[in-house]
Amino acid sequence: MARVRFDKLRKVFGRDVVAVAGLDFEIADGSFVSLVGPSGCGKSTALRMIAGLEEPTSGRLLFDDRDVTGLEPRDRDIAMVFQSYALYPHMSVRENLEYGLRKRRVPAAERDQRVARIAAMLHIEPFLERKPRQLSGGQRQRVALGRALIRDPEVFLLDEPLSNLDAKLRVHMRAELATLHARVGTTMIYVTHDQLEAMTLSDRIVVMSQGVVQQIGPPEEVYARPANRFVAEFIGTPSMNLMAGELDEEGGKARFRRNGVTVPLPDSLTAAADARQVLLGIRPEDIRITADSGEATIPAQVAVAELAGAEKYIYLDVAGMQIIARTDADSPVRGGDRVGLHFRPDRLHLFDGTSDEAKAIRAG
Ligand SMILES: Nc1ncnc2c1ncn2[C@@H]1O[C@H](COP(=O)(O)OP(=O)(O)O)[C@@H](O)[C@H]1O
Ligand SMILES: [Mg+2]
Repeated sequence: MARVRFDKLRKVFGRDVVAVAGLDFEIADGSFVSLVGPSGCGKSTALRMIAGLEEPTSGRLLFDDRDVTGLEPRDRDIAMVFQSYALYPHMSVRENLEYGLRKRRVPAAERDQRVARIAAMLHIEPFLERKPRQLSGGQRQRVALGRALIRDPEVFLLDEPLSNLDAKLRVHMRAELATLHARVGTTMIYVTHDQLEAMTLSDRIVVMSQGVVQQIGPPEEVYARPANRFVAEFIGTPSMNLMAGELDEEGGKARFRRNGVTVPLPDSLTAAADARQVLLGIRPEDIRITADSGEATIPAQVAVAELAGAEKYIYLDVAGMQIIARTDADSPVRGGDRVGLHFRPDRLHLFDGTSDEAKAIRAG
């Protein structure tokens, strides 16, 4: 097992395609870290550099204190699973699992032992003598994971390994991966465009956009305190509501204004603000809808109430903006209703300006 350190690791393709603008952080030994961001943001390139499949343009990569930047893939103690996993079609599941061990001349008795352990862990014991074509997609995916896991590497790299599975199986495999990591404790670096996958699996997530790290932290922290507009909108579904408007003051109290609607703001949010043009953020679950549109509430009109199983998404019009609130499934609110909104004051977010990079404004 190993700690992985990126030291200003950068990758430019050709003259000017900056795939990874510079990674500069450390992944703790034994942790599960996800690189997450939209397609094309540089996740796979980052992972391929760790694997040694892509040569960095500059910077260094260290496993513990060992510089592995120039090493061939086979000389790094890593195992990798890709989205499109290729099992050897003419080999049985057992032979597929054993293949890497045979190449490394692991003795037969130990091979058998490891196959048994991995097969039990992944629940593939009944299929060991089958060929890949005799397996379902999910079973094949587990074999592909097993083939990497059996090696007991220092670092385990996974590039969208669940993307080819249907939704239900993906949720199931997500849980299995988490269990697996808890059991083997190997450092895992996981690449996904799916923020929910990253949030549910990881100790820490690294949010990337256009080759640049936007925020690193535990999922709860990134969700509760997004560093900028990009992270605020990318993490969480439905996305955080963001309302463009102005900061001003009344009677020494800061407030947000837009089209005649005002939202009082806690001092903690505004103390560090120097901009007037801001985005006010509130997550759908932090909005409470009341029947009255009294003084202390924000008047809104309901466009549509959408039932999504255990909850409802209420689409609202507030001062000419569309926002979404999340309520219990039994909420009586209906399209056309005039309602009042309460924004939980301790769950408000404020961003300086309106660009993607607009930084969160925070006191202290
Ligand atoms: N071999 C390559 N040659 C040129 N450009 C590449 C190559 N591989 C990736 N890129 C570019 O680098 C950027 C990041 O790609 P990638 O790391 O695959 O993103 P992700 O995995 O996040 O979808 C993209 O703009 C992509 O087009
Ligand atoms: Mg990719």
